[in-house]
Amino acid sequence: MERDGVLKFPVVSVNDAQTKHFFDNRYGTGQSTIDGIIRATNVLLAGRTLVVCGYGWCGKGVALRARGLGSRVIVTEVDPIRALEAAMDGFMVMPLSDAAPMGDVFITVTGNSGIIRREHFVRMKDGAMVCNSGHFDVEVDLPALQAEAEGTPAEVRNHVHEYRMKNGRRIYVIGEGRLVNLAAAEGHPPSVMDMSFATQALATEYCIKNRGKLSAAVHAVPREVEDFVARHKLASMGITIDELTVSQKKYMSGWEQGT
Ligand SMILES: NC(=O)c1ccc[n+]([C@@H]2O[C@H](COP(=O)([O-])OP(=O)(O)OC[C@H]3O[C@@H](n4cnc5c(N)ncnc54)[C@H](O)[C@@H]3O)[C@@H](O)[C@H]2O)c1
Repeated sequence: MERDGVLKFPVVSVNDAQTKHFFDNRYGTGQSTIDGIIRATNVLLAGRTLVVCGYGWCGKGVALRARGLGSRVIVTEVDPIRALEAAMDGFMVMPLSDAAPMGDVFITVTGNSGIIRREHFVRMKDGAMVCNSGHFDVEVDLPALQAEAEGTPAEVRNHVHEYRMKNGRRIYVIGEGRLVNLAAAEGHPPSVMDMSFATQALATEYCIKNRGKLSAAVHAVPREVEDFVARHKLASMGITIDELTVSQKKYMSGWEQGT
């Protein structure tokens, strides 16, 4: 909206704050997504192949936690840097069309739409499970799945719909393609949402204190707010850290020494 000149008021981008995406997206989504899948299906993840679509902050968390439970994890990406990161983190990386026949459980976390489509569904194994933990319910193309299925999907367990495919296989959709951690679990634990909510509250205070001074644009969360939230979180966890000495500050901000 800012780019198109239609934003009418200042926005502070809490979603991009480090105190949000480093923790809420990575560790919150990582844990609660797996929690939702397990609560809905009781699947044993050890030895299964999990396909994680998108290796952003949420994808990293989901992939890491799935590996910790003994799954073989395949990552699909469109960004070469993120794909390389996934490969060097030790995950298999390939196009979704190649991963489709290999996966037991598919999880989308891209924030994009139309990720798992008809050409992927028709290649999946009998019994494959599909869910989304990204945005809304548009990452898994359910109308395309329905078009390849016979009859209406049956709810075989709470939050699990069985689609009987024309090719004879069954595909299970968890949480109707909506955010699986909210549909089938309880979302993130409070001990990670505390930082996101604190950042929102302090960003609101920042807007009020700077009323009339901020332009109608998207503004980053001020660094002092991020540091304040992180320091309080550390304190709540009983963790203290070192402080920069005067000479270290001088060394790091100067050019006379070391370079
Ligand atoms: N479930 C939850 O509770 C929860 C919590 C936080 C964020 N989210 C949502 O999860 C989504 C992802 O958040 P994030 O912080 O990881 O974002 P991000 O931007 O860090 O990562 C998204 C990744 O998806 C990749 N991607 C885009 N299109 C793709 C495609 N067609 N195939 C494969 N990869 C593709 C991008 O290259 C990027 O690396 C967002 O929509 C966010 O709102 C959900």
